Amino acid sequence: MKLRTLAIAAVAMGLAGSTLAQMKPEDEIRYRQSVMNVVGRAFGPMIQMAQDKRPYSRDIVEKNTRVMETVIGLHWDSFAPGTEKGAPTKADMKIWSEMDKFKAAADKSVKAVGTLSETLKGGGDEKAVKSALGEVGKTCKGCHDDYRLKEARN
Ligand code: HEC
Repeated sequence: MKLRTLAIAAVAMGLAGSTLAQMKPEDEIRYRQSVMNVVGRAFGPMIQMAQDKRPYSRDIVEKNTRVMETVIGLHWDSFAPGTEKGAPTKADMKIWSEMDKFKAAADKSVKAVGTLSETLKGGGDEKAVKSALGEVGKTCKGCHDDYRLKEARN
């Protein structure tokens, strides 16, 4: 009886696994865009503060950094091979021929957000926080310049 239950569980898990593997490209595309939009919404006000276009608020920076930290690692797998098309996307086809470089650019961004968070936790002053924000911004821009198209393609 117990063995049978185990076998059923294994089959169920196998099925779950294959469902994941068969996630439709359009779902992956929408997912990565949704996460990137959350990242952008959190980062927008902060980069304005770093550029002195908006008054500095440590509360907002702390809150938005937590959001970014939580989501910035979620969507990179949604650029896996097979997700080149399937829904309108601004992802440049170069991503899939330069995947190592793209992943390195993603890692840089994740690390920069980590450094921002450490700066805050370490009690960094406004100047230090703004500088860490600027570093994050460079990683966004760097990757967008290289791998994000201006117009969505199908
Ligand atoms: C490693 C590359 C990379 C990094 C790093 C990166 N992005 Fe992106 N971003 C992209 C790509 C590619 C797209 C387009 C995705 C698509 O349409 O499928 C995108 C899309 C976006 C969008 C949606 C824009 C639109 O036109 O719908 C926003 C907002 C955004 N990124 C913000 C950010 C912010 C803020 C950062 C830095 C914290 C960041 N991104 C870091 C590659 C990157």
